Amino acid sequence: MNFKIVKISTYTLLLTLFSMFMTNLKTNPKIQSMDNNIAQKVDSLLRIMTIEEKVGQMNLYNGFWDATGPVPEGGDAKTKYEHLRKGWVGGMLNVKGVNNVRGVQRIAVEESRLGIPLIIGFDVIHGYKTISPIPLAEAASWDLKAIEQSARISAVEASASGINWTFAPMVDISRDPRWGRVMEGAGEDPFLGSRIAQARVKGFQGEDLSKPNTIAACAKHFAAYGFAEAGREYNTVDMSNAKLFNTVLPPFKAAADAGVRTFMNSFNDLNGIPVSGSKFLQRDILKGKWNFNGFVVSDWASINEIIYWGHAKNKKEAAFIASRAGSDMDMEGHVYVQELAELVKSGEVDEAIIDEAAGRILRVKFELGLFDDPYKYCNEDREKNLIGQKSHHEAVLDMAKKSIVLLKNENNILPLKKEGQKIALIGPLANDKNSPLGSWRLASEDHTAVSILEGMNAYTKNKLSYAKGIDLFEGQVAFTTHIKINTDNKNGIEDAINIAKDADVVVMVLGEHGFQSGEARSRTKLDLPGLQQQLLEAVYNVNKNIVLVLQNGRPLTIEWAAEHIPAIVEGWQLGSQTGNAIAQVLYGDYNPSGKLPMTFPRNVGQIPIYYNHKNTGRATNREGNVFWSHYIDKENSPLYPFGHGLSYTTFEYTNLKVNTSDYSKKGKVAISVDITNSGQRQGREVVQLYIRDKVASIVRPVKELKGFELVELDVNESKAVSFHLTENELGFYNNDGAYILEPGNFEVFVGGSSSAKLKSEFSL
Ligand code: NOJ
Repeated sequence: MNFKIVKISTYTLLLTLFSMFMTNLKTNPKIQSMDNNIAQKVDSLLRIMTIEEKVGQMNLYNGFWDATGPVPEGGDAKTKYEHLRKGWVGGMLNVKGVNNVRGVQRIAVEESRLGIPLIIGFDVIHGYKTISPIPLAEAASWDLKAIEQSARISAVEASASGINWTFAPMVDISRDPRWGRVMEGAGEDPFLGSRIAQARVKGFQGEDLSKPNTIAACAKHFAAYGFAEAGREYNTVDMSNAKLFNTVLPPFKAAADAGVRTFMNSFNDLNGIPVSGSKFLQRDILKGKWNFNGFVVSDWASINEIIYWGHAKNKKEAAFIASRAGSDMDMEGHVYVQELAELVKSGEVDEAIIDEAAGRILRVKFELGLFDDPYKYCNEDREKNLIGQKSHHEAVLDMAKKSIVLLKNENNILPLKKEGQKIALIGPLANDKNSPLGSWRLASEDHTAVSILEGMNAYTKNKLSYAKGIDLFEGQVAFTTHIKINTDNKNGIEDAINIAKDADVVVMVLGEHGFQSGEARSRTKLDLPGLQQQLLEAVYNVNKNIVLVLQNGRPLTIEWAAEHIPAIVEGWQLGSQTGNAIAQVLYGDYNPSGKLPMTFPRNVGQIPIYYNHKNTGRATNREGNVFWSHYIDKENSPLYPFGHGLSYTTFEYTNLKVNTSDYSKKGKVAISVDITNSGQRQGREVVQLYIRDKVASIVRPVKELKGFELVELDVNESKAVSFHLTENELGFYNNDGAYILEPGNFEVFVGGSSSAKLKSEFSL
């Protein structure tokens, strides 16, 4: 770079940069010198930039090929190229591949006045080309190392393809499986969600952001997007402070603490303010209380959408509101680039706001090393050799196996026998090579997953008969179009019945297509779509020995199956290696250990249903009277609770001990429990610790996850597992957002799911 260093910029910028130094100095003294250096470079650069160029840094354009949102007015390629040349573009999304990235980067670097490199973003959500399980599935592994590794692999592949910024992890907590985006998060629990958020950030960003194989992560969607009313995508959100501080924000805070470099705001409003315009969230909490020094990108055109919410009259007002509220970058909204420079010139928006936002963006570009080498992510050899390599497929296979949850296994119908068992494989998803790739697989090639039929056939010599049964959908499927579900063509059912009659065991693969969950895929029914329930019952009528393998992006309401079908395997959408993973689990070479990260409701009417609910004043039917908190047509309990998941072996928990003697000196309550493998196979268990704060100034949930540990046990082997509870686990946020710890009585529960019964108590 050959930019000149000119005179000092605004006083406010210096103050901002100074406070950034101080923040980092406090949190990480090691990076102080590097940080200083970057801050100086950013400062020097800002001083020579025109207002239009600074605003340009705040402008993120979609590329010229794929769009992941509605294409806006004024978004024509000619304007975008022109703006690139003028230095009015800070980054691009949906430009992928070394050649394409080099193309746009070259314009920015070689044709614009200052040659500032672009940041290149992409939705690397569950893999890049080698597709890993959907994030909700990965969360079911509770295996932080594996999840980190999965993000690492995505980063290696994406960065080899020119990308240096992912719009992940999504850390939205949600209790509503009608909302299709639950597939993209870590489920309903803030504790598990926080740990997973950190693992993913670490995986994407690695230890050193300037390496060519690490990319900037983005915690999204800030905030409360997972609570869209009625589970309807892009809908309004209305929530209490208690929920915001204790349930929604902790995973974002965890991501910030893990050093995530960017945040994305969300499409919803909060207390009547569209969040791209929320000063409370972006300035007061994120950049204020949390001292976040990266940048905030809007979601796709969400700054523009402030107008449609009815909170701004026009683009000018939307730009005014969002920039002052702390939205640093406008994703494909065309609002900042069109309005902000004028607003500064007219004195309506303080230039310091622009300097701060552009400075934050430039800082991340410096950290990525883009100023040292704008083409560092554009290396054809890396692209050719690193993407899709064998070790990546091995890792996603491992992740896929760990993500599978055994929901039910009556009479040990599973595992299947490798020989001497006649198996019929039935279902519209059984030989589907596309659906298992899930929803966010924009860089993968369609139809490249190992199907379950392929996986099972390759795994044993056991003869397998196969019938599709019915088609799940008609026509083509894609990320950007609606799927048309088949509701009348039943032609294949007869074939399915015929092979089922003749089988010892029937494996049925049913569920949702990969494009039935994800963005803009809200559902009002969560049953098996189309004719699948009919197919299931038709097969059941001739053969009750059924293993149901579910493929889905969210909890489903499968009450009939849970009652009638002897074995149910939650197989989500597991990515490129789906069929191999399922085969290993079904044939018992991998003993499943996944645990649900989200409650399975019995029916849609129970939603929102989640384990960490409040007790209410009328939780039980005390005297058999009618006036208690319940439904008259369905029990309160879920079909499968949070944390549930079986194994081919069994585990026993005993000897739960609580020791508070160290609390006054070291601030720690020690918990220990013995766990024994009491079954016939080696296995792995997720030991879960929950607490209940019995009386508090803000009502606490009946259970809250506060620790978990993965334990491998041989047959008859026992291990002692210990946990420590500190103020980080024992306190909570009050309604002003202050974290407090209150003395009193606590219950502690340990076991293999949120319905763990082994319990003890302690007082502080
Ligand atoms: C909209 C989605 O909400 C967001 O998560 C995604 O990163 C952007 N589109 C870009 O594709």
